[in-house]
Parts: sequence; C-alpha cells; structure tokens
Amino acid sequence: MPALWYRYPALYEWSLRLLPGDSDAIFRTIAEIIGAGRRVLDLGCGPGTLARYLLPGCAYEGWDLNPRFAAYAQRRGINVLARDCLDGGPYPPVECIVISRLLHHLGSRDHELLQRTLAQARERVIVFEPTLEEEHHGLYGLVYRLRAWLGLETLLGDHDGVAAHGRPRTKAELMDFLATEAPCQFVQPDNILFALAVFDTQARGGAT
Ligand SMILES: C[S@@+](CC[C@H](N)C(=O)[O-])C[C@H]1O[C@@H](n2cnc3c(N)ncnc32)[C@H](O)[C@@H]1O
Repeated sequence: MPALWYRYPALYEWSLRLLPGDSDAIFRTIAEIIGAGRRVLDLGCGPGTLARYLLPGCAYEGWDLNPRFAAYAQRRGINVLARDCLDGGPYPPVECIVISRLLHHLGSRDHELLQRTLAQARERVIVFEPTLEEEHHGLYGLVYRLRAWLGLETLLGDHDGVAAHGRPRTKAELMDFLATEAPCQFVQPDNILFALAVFDTQARGGAT
C-alpha cells in the first residue's frame, strides 16, 4: 500500500512544500536548464508537476508507474503515461531527459537507468535527487524522527507502492555516484539538501 502522498496526487503536489528547500525554485531551475522549445521526457514524473514550469515551445511527456498520477495529470491536460521507465524499449526521441527524485526509488537499478538515458537524450540528462541529510534537516528532521518513532513510515513515508523503497544517499555518496556515471556539472554544489546534476550528452556523442 503506497503512502498517503502517492494515493492522492493533489496531496503529493501540496506535500512538496513541506520538503526542505524550495521545490518551486528547483522546478524553475530545471526548466531554465532545459530551455525553450525542447522535447522533454520526465521519468518517474509523479503528477507531471514539472510541465507547469517549462519555458514556451517545450513538448512534455512524463512516465510514471503510478496510474493515479497519470490519470490526474491527464485530466489536467498534462501528457503523463503510466509506464515503467525501466522497461526495455527505447525512449521517445527528446533533447532532455529529467530524472527528479526518482533514483532512490530504483535501488540498484539506478545505474541502469542513468546509462540508458545518457545514451538516448540528444542534449542533456538532468538529475535532481534529495540527500540523506535532507531527512535530518531542521523541522523536517524532527518530523522524520517523530514519524519513525510512531511507526508511521508506511503511511507517511516515501513508499510509492510501485518500487522497492530505497534510502537516499548522503550528499558525498550521491555526488560520487553521479560523477562516476559520466562527467557532469553540479548546480549549487554546496547545497547539502540535494544534488542537481546536468549531463551534456552531446559532448558524449549521444543519440542523433
Ligand atoms: C518522489 S516521486 C518524484 C515525482 C517527481 N519527479 C517530482 O520530482 O516531484 C517518485 C516517483 O517515481 C515513480 N516511479 C518509481 N519507480 C518507477 C519506475 N520504474 N517507472 C516509472 N515511475 C516510477 C513513483 O511512482 C513516484 O511517483
């Protein structure tokens, strides 16, 4: 059974405000990195929140295994498909692939996903990922400890109900993991709450 946030897409979107860091600013930053007029594939997209931030002329497609998120997005005219980002087929041809808050849901298959996206995105792969430090930060850290103490992790934790529930990496582990996958640029590298990495796939001679 998924946690409450994953049962009610509107609640999920609202809950992003509770997370440390400014989710709104993060989505805006990702949209600016993507730029205008790009085709965007958003993997593990939730209810397709990123679509609202994209610059003019972008074409958006999101994939999420949670059918509630896909249906919710579709009712709002956002192109989200109930699809597994780890299924074997090729991704649609796009300039940018976004992987936001997904890696820690994939367990050991995170490497596989990154390599597949790096081989197929025509311009960039953008990874946004929270760190383990986030869970210990300020008021959220207190809520996190209280939640564990009350045994409410299943109801109010990060269980998406579709994937193995992994733990985020520490900031140092995350930066190390991402940099080992391929050369990338870190945006706000000193922010301990997350890593935002941009992989230039044109430089790799990626898909054409
Ligand atoms: C924490 S949410 C992130 C949502 C959105 N990207 C964001 O940044 O707010 C992680 C999402 O990944 C989805 N997910 C997990 N494994 C998946 C998979 N193999 N294929 C597609 N979606 C997956 C879950 O259903 C969940 O909605």
